[in-house]
Amino acid sequence: MDENKMVCECYNIRVKDIKKAIAEGCDTFEKMERSMRLGVLCGACVNDAKKTIELCKKM
Ligand code: FES
Repeated sequence: MDENKMVCECYNIRVKDIKKAIAEGCDTFEKMERSMRLGVLCGACVNDAKKTIELCKKM
């Protein structure tokens, strides 16, 4: 997976940011929603963001 792939345009969150969050124990969509505002503005990224989180957790 491309580390620089944009996951959430509204908050400029990339795959590498998702991986970093998981490494720091922030390992669910709901936690990232709270800690980094993932998906809270337009909501367009929510489904993809959830898939990306699951994929990153398996890596
Ligand atoms: S793209 Fe993620 S909230 Fe808009």
